[in-house]
Amino acid sequence: MLVGGKGTRLRPLTTHTPKPMLPVAGVPFIAHQLARAAAAGVTRVVLATSYLAEVFEDHFQDGSPYGIELVYLTEKEPLGTGGAIRNAASGLTCGPDEPVLIFNGDILSGVDIAALRDSHLAAGADVTLHLTRVEDPRAFGLVPTDAAGRVLEFLEKPETPEQIVTDQINAGCYVFTRSVIDRILAGREVSVERETFPELLESGALLRGVVDTSYWLDLGTPGAFVRGSADLVLGKVDSPAVPGPTGEALLLPGAEVDLGAVLSSGTVVAEGASVAAGAIIEGSVILAGAVIGPDAYVKDSIVGAYATVGARTSLDGAVIGDGAIVEADNELPSGLRVACGTLLPVGAVRTTAGPGGCPAGQVSAAAVHGSGQTRSEVASR
Ligand code: GTP
Repeated sequence: MLVGGKGTRLRPLTTHTPKPMLPVAGVPFIAHQLARAAAAGVTRVVLATSYLAEVFEDHFQDGSPYGIELVYLTEKEPLGTGGAIRNAASGLTCGPDEPVLIFNGDILSGVDIAALRDSHLAAGADVTLHLTRVEDPRAFGLVPTDAAGRVLEFLEKPETPEQIVTDQINAGCYVFTRSVIDRILAGREVSVERETFPELLESGALLRGVVDTSYWLDLGTPGAFVRGSADLVLGKVDSPAVPGPTGEALLLPGAEVDLGAVLSSGTVVAEGASVAAGAIIEGSVILAGAVIGPDAYVKDSIVGAYATVGARTSLDGAVIGDGAIVEADNELPSGLRVACGTLLPVGAVRTTAGPGGCPAGQVSAAAVHGSGQTRSEVASR
């Protein structure tokens, strides 16, 4: 599993926690992947770590509670997705002709892992890619295939309509024949999507795509992260790591929600977090120890661990970093991210004109005090 990326699109949540360790529906995201891999018969997993590597081992140890043997291989400097696969090969124990499953550590999917492996073996492929179909493929790597599933080419993030030749995209889960991994150059940064796959194709290797249209979501952005968490809580995607869909909000042990608060289904309130009377939480993730004040309104947002959202403050599609304090009567617009440990004083950010406020649609960040963060981080979108 590739879990060493910096997760820049999810900052500031990834300041202290690597993306694959962020809790989704109450457990670190890769716990879902590990549980699904174990259910498909995988017994040994190499975690290719780099950024904040120690967080994984502290949590998962040797993997025994998950019924899986876990091995950690850490890159001093991130080697990219291809370099990480090459580096992790030293932790593999299988023979040269055996299949190796590779997962990006940020994909929530219902792909049939065993079927993907079986298809790889039956076709005698060098690499088999899980492909999914999306309505708008522009932000993804396109992978057209022929009728037999043979990959024809790799098109990264098409820019013109003519380049959109298929709706099949690389879904971030692969099967490599073990010996093929040795063809990736060792000791340098390599992108599996941009370098390894096109080079293998060019050299005549057999690359196949298997289209599996079950649930699929890349959790790399705040909006997707919130949606994926809610989908797990609501049972729209199965995970053996979640006891069962609640159909409601998920309150983890020690969460305190006042009876006068309203939580939409799919919302998660984590351990030790509290929600005061009159607050409305819609489709959001409230991380451990966070405090939501009276009459606050939190929509499609993520509130970091031990952060505070003050009375009557409203968030819409916002991300609040760990330990940040957004005091009362702030109105944070969609996309606003507040850096970890920052203090936003009472009424510092408003999006509509009020007495003495700025015109509608503008943001006034009048007084911002941080702990080492710059003002641009506070207001970055
Ligand atoms: P962004 O910075 O937001 O793009 O996130 P990211 O750093 O995680 O990159 P990306 O989403 O492209 O990565 C896909 C998967 O590969 C994720 O699970 C990453 O953890 C992993 N990954 C990306 N780069 C590296 C790397 O250099 N080393 C390792 N071991 N894993 C990586």
